[in-house]
Amino acid sequence: MQGFPTELPVDGIGDAAAFALFSRAIQSRSAKLGDLHALAHMDPPPLDIAARLVGLNAEFNQNMLHREVSPFATEVEVRVIDWLAPLFGMRCGHFCSGSTLANLTALWRAREAGAQCVVASADAHISIAKAAHILGMPFRAVAVDAHGRLDRADLGDVKEAAVVLTAGTTGRGVIDSLEPVACRWIHVDAAWAGPLRLTQFSGRLDGIEHADSVAVSAHKWLYQPKESAIILFKSQDAQDAISFGGAYLAAPNVGVQGSRGAAAIPLMATFVALGRKGLAALIERNMAHAEALAALIAEDARFELKQPPETAVLNWRLVNGSAESMLAKLSGTSSRTQIDGALWACQVAANPNADIARIWAQIVAAI
Ligand SMILES: Cc1ncc(COP(=O)(O)O)c(C=O)c1O
Repeated sequence: MQGFPTELPVDGIGDAAAFALFSRAIQSRSAKLGDLHALAHMDPPPLDIAARLVGLNAEFNQNMLHREVSPFATEVEVRVIDWLAPLFGMRCGHFCSGSTLANLTALWRAREAGAQCVVASADAHISIAKAAHILGMPFRAVAVDAHGRLDRADLGDVKEAAVVLTAGTTGRGVIDSLEPVACRWIHVDAAWAGPLRLTQFSGRLDGIEHADSVAVSAHKWLYQPKESAIILFKSQDAQDAISFGGAYLAAPNVGVQGSRGAAAIPLMATFVALGRKGLAALIERNMAHAEALAALIAEDARFELKQPPETAVLNWRLVNGSAESMLAKLSGTSSRTQIDGALWACQVAANPNADIARIWAQIVAAI
């Protein structure tokens, strides 16, 4: 933070100087997610059309809480939800700032529907246990099978539960079986892999239409800047139970967040600019990248590949040698995860600009 004030400034340096100071720091001290070697996390480089419109939205300080001051944004949100919900067999929904909130919203709705507890696999995202905690609902983690999918044999009695199935686990990118479960509420956390529904890999999410609610992070595999996610519901009136009117509101406030920005505008613009085909092509390129890197790893005796990538998430480790020191050298190219108590490298092919030959060379050089 050299060059930045340590105390709350009394006198300002002016807009131009402050902008220059902060933009230099952002550019020099943030990972370049679109670089040729970037392949570490579920954070793609945002599309230019989306990033620019986030800036324009900010200039108008759109607030989805007050539709009378954001009439265009309100109509856009309805339209985008109408476009996306049917892909998942859902009927309505709204935007929120991330799937942590989308999952909380879904489980809140499940509790209103009578769910007594929350059940999810041990590999479900931490936001599920966190939501259960906030909602005062007991949480039970079910074992995963050898592939990392929720082990249905360990599900037990879930008649009164909200069961969360994950489509694209954070550590291994696997999709739980989405076959129906006899329970109070089925929520599918499709934060990561939901957008596969737009692609030739759509069938990997078959069964998602049995869910009562689905969460998708648009700031992950729909290449939107943060904070953009969607919670979708099967029943048209599902949002009524989580809506609150107020004397100062022209329309009830739906969901957990109060004021929120117009994240639907950049997403709709992305669809208008690229078309469904264009977006699918980006995601399919990521899938091809993951396959290509997995093949290189699988063919090299120095490495162990955990499993073929199902949703562009790869896990591998060195057969001999220190994973710690190697991962330190691969920062930005690779992240990490624990599987059965052991450290594995984790890569998420979320960057359409990635150069797999260059990434492979970096991995080999780091041994
Ligand atoms: C499976 C899964 N669910 C939920 C989340 C939380 O999403 P967000 O970071 O959008 O709050 C993540 C984040 O990585 C995730 O991988």
